[in-house]
Amino acid sequence: MNILVLNGSPKGEKSNTLKITKAFLEGLCSKQYHNVNMVNISEKDIQHCRGCFLCWTKAPGRCVIKDDMEELLEQYIKADLLIWSFPLYYFGMPSKMKAFLDRTLPTNLPYMRVNKKGTCGHPSRYDLSQQRYVLISTCGFCIMWRIIMTPSSVNLRSCSAIN
Ligand SMILES: Cc1cc2nc3c(=O)[nH]c(=O)nc-3n(C[C@H](O)[C@H](O)[C@H](O)COP(=O)(O)O)c2cc1C
Repeated sequence: MNILVLNGSPKGEKSNTLKITKAFLEGLCSKQYHNVNMVNISEKDIQHCRGCFLCWTKAPGRCVIKDDMEELLEQYIKADLLIWSFPLYYFGMPSKMKAFLDRTLPTNLPYMRVNKKGTCGHPSRYDLSQQRYVLISTCGFCIMWRIIMTPSSVNLRSCSAIN
């Protein structure tokens, strides 16, 4: 299986999230061989999406910006498993990771399709029906709404263990 790890922490190899991701990979690869490609998003030249939609109109599937995304999108499409690994920043993802996500727009088709569940979205330009993804994230806040609502020693113990 081709595994593409997207490390979105600006801390690169020093990322706490990446430590968890590496432990996950260790478990996965202990069962059978997998081809793992680790990408440190912070080291890549990824400009922001310009919102021009030329990847849907004049040059279908191609972005006009010439940077590292060209190569990254090739790896993205070929991956059997995508691992999104990033810390929580203001309840979202670090900005460069978001830039990466925005720049996957050329992999989508310009029209929308209503799914079986009644939601709608853009179908993929490529057959990614076999592709799977995992999201691994860490954060700093130790208090969860559930804990505030129903404080119990068990919850508080697990909370301090996270920190
Ligand atoms: C700019 C910034 C924003 C953050 N926002 C949040 C947040 O909204 N919620 C939270 O719980 N932690 C937040 N954190 C803490 C990080 O998610 C936390 O330190 C994380 O474990 C760092 O992971 P890393 O070592 O993989 O980069 C933020 C940290 C930074 C630097």
